[in-house]
Amino acid sequence: MDELYYDPYDYQIDADPHPIWKRMRDEAPLYRNEKLDFYALSRFRDVLDASLDHETFSSARGTVLELMGRIPKPPPMIFTDPPEHSRLRKLVSRSFSPRRVSALEPRIRELCRRYLDPQVGRDGFDYVAEFGAKLPVMVISSLLGIPEGDQEQVREWTDRMLHREPGQREPSPASVEAGQSFYRYIGELIADRTRRPRDDMMSQLLASEITLEDGSRRKLEPGEILTFVGLLSAAGNETVARLLGWAAILLGRHSDQRERLLREPGLIPNAVEELLRYEAPSPVQARTVTHDVEIHGEVVPAGSTVLLLTGSAGRDEREYPDADRFDVSRRFERHVSFGFGIHFCLGASLARLEGRVALEETLRRFPHWEVVEEGLEMIHTSTVRGYARVPIRLP
Ligand code: HEM
Repeated sequence: MDELYYDPYDYQIDADPHPIWKRMRDEAPLYRNEKLDFYALSRFRDVLDASLDHETFSSARGTVLELMGRIPKPPPMIFTDPPEHSRLRKLVSRSFSPRRVSALEPRIRELCRRYLDPQVGRDGFDYVAEFGAKLPVMVISSLLGIPEGDQEQVREWTDRMLHREPGQREPSPASVEAGQSFYRYIGELIADRTRRPRDDMMSQLLASEITLEDGSRRKLEPGEILTFVGLLSAAGNETVARLLGWAAILLGRHSDQRERLLREPGLIPNAVEELLRYEAPSPVQARTVTHDVEIHGEVVPAGSTVLLLTGSAGRDEREYPDADRFDVSRRFERHVSFGFGIHFCLGASLARLEGRVALEETLRRFPHWEVVEEGLEMIHTSTVRGYARVPIRLP
């Protein structure tokens, strides 16, 4: 049998990591990569337990393998531990209340109409490039209060900011430049909302106060708001775009499942959960262990990087019977594709809403489609996994 080797930057592995993840779960539940200096946990239970134990598995040195120990200042909340994390999370949770999120449904539906209506009557289109990648950035931009005329440019910057060429781990000059343009733009928006507040998240963040350990209160600084906006764009655009790409691919390949959703649209929210379990858009979360810890009989030394393979956890047969079967009616209580514990995805309800509305509007217009397999193009970063191009053929 081949030597077991897992490398999140290897394009060949990334194309279909499931056979390797399965071997890791069975043969090396605590996997060690000497070359890239990380450990990895691949079983559902281990990923869940580590996500819950934030005292041992810290996020404070970062959660992206190639950026460990090199996090921006001030750090975005995803790269913090309590008590700093608790303070930041409490502050921004208000902007993601169920009321605020569900108020976005009409806007999401309108955006779906805008992108999907022109495709009706055509013989095919690129589901991600022409729809899936556009929708989430417009939604977050609307939430933040970015003017519509600028939203497409913002999407291009965030796309370029995250892109990595084959074998490349560091951001390219083009990525760095895109990042600078993006942050300059948001800085100007903050300055504008400071002068003229509106009814948007940016103005709300500028007005809110953070309570410190000694009980005193202070406003967020522009740098902190900039960081939070950067986090929302990075965490909320690429991930939803990948989810929608997987939806087009999996429902295209499994036409029986798509037909089931046409007959029983009430199953669509469940189908979104199954899609997330089956192909996690964000399959790798890194942590640093704060003290020596024994896992599967081996001591992982303090300071080591441990990858939590949420994408593998979703296919763990120990948790999901017949885990490699894609079934939109599968019932399960939980998955870890939005993470778990204190860093559980802040945008989960928004992502679920976008997924549901996008599928409803897609199936309403396009009950049948086929994936043009030779036209598929993957997007490669160490944090999200999925497709940048998903051409579909319409009958
Ligand atoms: C299908 C779409 C999405 C997926 C698969 C996803 C996945 C995840 C995962 C796995 C984490 C945990 C990271 C960790 O434990 O280190 C996370 C955290 C986070 N997500 Fe999402 N996400 C999605 C959509 C969104 C959206 C739409 C937003 C915002 C609008 C968002 C904002 C965040 C933020 C701010 C965090 C950090 C939470 C914290 O540190 O407390 N995500 N997401």
